[in-house]
Amino acid sequence: MSTVLSPTEVAQAAQIEEQWDEFVSGRYKEGKSEAEFRNYDAKVVPTVAEFYKINHENQTLDFVLRKEAEYFALEKGERSIWEAADFLNTLVDDSDPDTDLTQIEHLLQTAEAIRKDGHPRWFVLAGFVHDLGKVLCLYGEPQWAVVGDTFPVGCAYSDQVVFPEFFAANPDSTIPAYQTENGIYERECGLDKVHLSFGHDEYIYQVTCKYMPEEALYMLRYHSFYAAHKHGAYRHLMNEHDERMFEWVHKFNPYDLYSKGRERPNMQEILPYYQDLVSEFFPEKIDW
Ligand SMILES: [Fe+2]
Ligand SMILES: [Fe+2]
Repeated sequence: MSTVLSPTEVAQAAQIEEQWDEFVSGRYKEGKSEAEFRNYDAKVVPTVAEFYKINHENQTLDFVLRKEAEYFALEKGERSIWEAADFLNTLVDDSDPDTDLTQIEHLLQTAEAIRKDGHPRWFVLAGFVHDLGKVLCLYGEPQWAVVGDTFPVGCAYSDQVVFPEFFAANPDSTIPAYQTENGIYERECGLDKVHLSFGHDEYIYQVTCKYMPEEALYMLRYHSFYAAHKHGAYRHLMNEHDERMFEWVHKFNPYDLYSKGRERPNMQEILPYYQDLVSEFFPEKIDW
């Protein structure tokens, strides 16, 4: 499979991706109150606000179902984890080549921070693969369908989702059946039955679900679901099992958010460890 984006589009995508990452880590700097979140949001750079506006307007239940049908059969080709990482690495923000990490470096920094804290190998591996779903971008998916905080579709929007005011322009907001608290779902049905807005989290979950332990899969699948894991929203759709497994999502989140400032990983030195780790869990090629 080849990249369908032009170099300019790839650079733009990388820039929005970088700005979104910065926004999220700034927003969730330790110890902010709800009022401080809102204050922070108000000062956000226009491109980030614009990104969320388009995201919230377009992520309808219908859109999500179509994308699930398109991608979750995993018919986009066979690739090794390393090929996916290389492929993703073409997504470099060339507006500032000195300070920006490549995608692989972000993955390795996250994984290295987890490894240094002595966590199990599957946890380190979750750090290493967690953003590989961003290859969606290189299939030509727009940014708003790849990154951004995720949220359930087909039920009422929580005001704990960032920029909830933008949901007013989502066509689903005029469909009464989708706007009750539970919407199309049953109370406490479990998140596995809930359709979240489409993005890189769910895609990497689908790609890896045969190979990794469930704790790791929760980390991958829900790492951008900030309304739930940071703000405690949508508990009425979660079951007891989700509640227990979210402990792992909570453990994972600081490594994703705060490992960025650290020094650049020494690729040569750590690569053998990761080659070994990847081949412990994954066959040579997997379906994407
Ligand atoms: Fe991510
Ligand atoms: Fe990440």
